[in-house]
Amino acid sequence: MTLPVERTTGDPGLRLPGVVTATSLQLPEGLSFTEWEAVGRTLDRLRESVHWWRGDWLRYGERTYGERYSRVLDPGAGTYQTLANDAWVAGKIGLSLRRENVPWSHHKEIAPLQPDEQAAFLDQTEHHGWSVRELRERIRQHKRLPPPAPRAPGVKIPEDQWQGILDRVDAGETQASLAAEYGVSEARISGIVQTQRAAVRRAAARLKAQQDPTKSHRQAHAERLAAYEEAARAREQEAEEGEGEGAGVPAPLYDAVCPADALSYLRDLPDGIAHLCVTSPPYWAKRQYTGDPLELGREPDPDDYVRKLVEIVDEIGRVLAPGAYLFLNLGDTYASQPGRYRGDEDRRRGISELAIRANGTALDGRVLDVPEKSLVGIPWRVALGLTLRHGWRCANVVCWVKEGAARENVHDRLRQQWEPILVLTKAQHAYLNHEPLRDVGTGDVWDMRVGRRGEAAGHYAPFPEELVGRAIAAACPPGGVVLDPFAGSGTTLQVARRMGRRFLGCDLSPGEVAG
Ligand SMILES: C[S@@+](CC[C@H](N)C(=O)[O-])C[C@H]1O[C@@H](n2cnc3c(N)ncnc32)[C@H](O)[C@@H]1O
Repeated sequence: MTLPVERTTGDPGLRLPGVVTATSLQLPEGLSFTEWEAVGRTLDRLRESVHWWRGDWLRYGERTYGERYSRVLDPGAGTYQTLANDAWVAGKIGLSLRRENVPWSHHKEIAPLQPDEQAAFLDQTEHHGWSVRELRERIRQHKRLPPPAPRAPGVKIPEDQWQGILDRVDAGETQASLAAEYGVSEARISGIVQTQRAAVRRAAARLKAQQDPTKSHRQAHAERLAAYEEAARAREQEAEEGEGEGAGVPAPLYDAVCPADALSYLRDLPDGIAHLCVTSPPYWAKRQYTGDPLELGREPDPDDYVRKLVEIVDEIGRVLAPGAYLFLNLGDTYASQPGRYRGDEDRRRGISELAIRANGTALDGRVLDVPEKSLVGIPWRVALGLTLRHGWRCANVVCWVKEGAARENVHDRLRQQWEPILVLTKAQHAYLNHEPLRDVGTGDVWDMRVGRRGEAAGHYAPFPEELVGRAIAAACPPGGVVLDPFAGSGTTLQVARRMGRRFLGCDLSPGEVAG
């Protein structure tokens, strides 16, 4: 039997001139500039369209082959999450509603809405040219209005009922009727169904692994990565819908550096809502940033500093999701003589008199427990405090080789050329993906230029963007939330935003954050 198959894409705007192969685009000689420019636009459109194509393809499989379709969804594969998202969005937005000139990212935002709301928001986006962020904000505002259909906000469906929901969907009940019964959105039911399906697949895989002793650690790790990514996505969806844990965070806190003390800020955040923390607190008795009495690093006694920092790190641990990492960049200080500055004048800029005196006070008021000219050992004390008494695991100490840092003027010891970054977690198995580090290496020596510093850069001690980027690429799942409670000029925020992650952070004195 021959099936009637429609073979055309129907859209000449998606055709490329020349020869297209899997690894090349050979354009014909003699293209005009305008034609060449148009090729670029087509490539952009193709990239966007692939999301729709894959989404529709997967849904076709689901419709046509039943549960067999899910074999293509390999939770260990890096593309799993995108594919599942593509299918979900394609399923939520009918063909007639999709807009060619509105990006996929915007469609993703409106996918959980009702079709008439989707149409209205797409119209407005087209008309006003809203960014994703603006659109998200409008949707939030819209959701605060009396809902179009009666639906109890904030209803949480206990996890022990998720399997029952999946069973009922598999038995043919519609997600709409379940949504009405539980008083939640259809998107929420759909999220539970997807999450539960994946949980079932993982349980089956675990069982198989137990029966198959040859299964590699690599495979087990890949499964854990997928599970973590999925949990992050589910949590994000709950937060978007005003349900679950992430819902406790007011929208304006996201993607901004709040002017606040780190400990108070963190205490106001709900448990488990961030997926990675990359931060650099002020080092003990070094620079003065604000003059605020709450500023960390001004304690005459280094043990007071360690105690406060450990308290803050514990609070970070509460705000991080299970399995998340904290990258804590923390330098050391030398015990010096009272009131004497030992460095060269160049390095003195941005280092306050108070900081110099702080060393002195420490020596005057309480004899330091290390001899003069010794490293005080701040990173070691913090690491030991956290690991011995607070249940943290120190997985690595990254050696950040500070290329381009000012030369120390010292003679009877070696010059410092690196700083430690403690890589800490409370989990036995934490989320870290080697894949994105393939080009730069998966080792613990990071050779990077220091960030642009001083007044011109808006901060005296900014992170190199590359450092933050590397941590995010490896340790924050796509779409996850990055935290930095000592955000300074907002380097972490900017890099997180560029890499498609959301951000939460504060600083006693937030610097200028570039858009
Ligand atoms: C080393 S800098 C962070 C630089 C940042 N990583 C960047 O890229 O710009 C430390 C920051 O901690 C802030 N800070 C000091 N004490 C604080 C506290 N108690 N709460 C919040 N921020 C604080 C300072 O204002 C300073 O901006």
